[in-house]
Amino acid sequence: MTALDDITGQLRQLEEEARCDLAAAPVSEHPVVRARYLGKKSPLNAILRGLKDLPEDQRRVVGSLANETRDRLTALFEAEATTGTTAAPAVRPYDHTLPGRPHPRGHRHLLTRTMDEVIAIFYGMGFEIAEGPEIETDYYNFAALNFPPDHPARDMQDTFFINNEYLLRTHTSPVQVRVFENRRPPVRILAPGRVYRHEAINARSYCVFHQVEGFFVDVDVSFADLKGVLVAFVQEFFGSEARLRFRPSFFPFTEPSTEVDMSCLLCGGKGCTLCKHEGWLEILGAGMIDPAVFAAVDYDPKVFSGYAFGMGIERIALLKHGIDDIRLFYENDLRFLQQF
Ligand code: DAH
Repeated sequence: MTALDDITGQLRQLEEEARCDLAAAPVSEHPVVRARYLGKKSPLNAILRGLKDLPEDQRRVVGSLANETRDRLTALFEAEATTGTTAAPAVRPYDHTLPGRPHPRGHRHLLTRTMDEVIAIFYGMGFEIAEGPEIETDYYNFAALNFPPDHPARDMQDTFFINNEYLLRTHTSPVQVRVFENRRPPVRILAPGRVYRHEAINARSYCVFHQVEGFFVDVDVSFADLKGVLVAFVQEFFGSEARLRFRPSFFPFTEPSTEVDMSCLLCGGKGCTLCKHEGWLEILGAGMIDPAVFAAVDYDPKVFSGYAFGMGIERIALLKHGIDDIRLFYENDLRFLQQF
């Protein structure tokens, strides 16, 4: 580096520092800053005084650069001295033309919205809403729903046990029993809520998820009523093209029991990867409430009959929005959440 480069660099750095110091200093300190950069003992002044010792060719270049620096700094300090007394320090004048800063706004989680949508549809069909505790007893979660002790049907739902008495409910069906204990028919209820299963986590299942339980008990409630309500719901929620298929199945608390499939939304029943080329997707379990459940709550099965169904909220949200991994609902990744 030549002596010339060196001095030019110094000048540039001095000017930069002077601007920064001035900007950072309170108005009362401005004269001190000015003396530091333009006063007799300032480095700039030292450079100006040293000009006479430089060779002729360098003297002219350095001389004009140093003079320009001094002039710019002088102008800067003068300007600051005139405006500094009137304007508040370090506050920029307000620019009315700047666009506003947007405040990011959140929205309800897709699961909450799906749940609310389901509730609204059933509410419109005359269902009341009821809730039950997430920490349940064996009695409500299993025994009163006709799962005998040590019966293999209990293995259908891997359970988180808290102790001998309490567990995390594995489904929303216990709300049926809690409602029946306190009400006489007719009861037409929708029970939404969170449920827990001790399952391996993968794209299809998670240790916590949501269900809605629906049930209706009165005189002369039939399987046809169940079909009517489910078809009405599915066509409202998924669209009028949706078709249902009822497959015979088994649940301890219903007889007969059914699992209900919906025509695949993506291919309309022709077969695709979403429906694993079946044309159908399972969306819920249902059936006519077993007389054993009525016996547990003192309803007379000769007088009353009822249907019940249970539906996974994650499942229908996945289907409706073409989401392929249930874990996305729980990871709180904004890139996922913001799409809905
Ligand atoms: N509780 C069942 C489950 O979680 C779902 C279910 C099936 C609910 C049939 C019902 C029903 O009300 O009638 O697997």
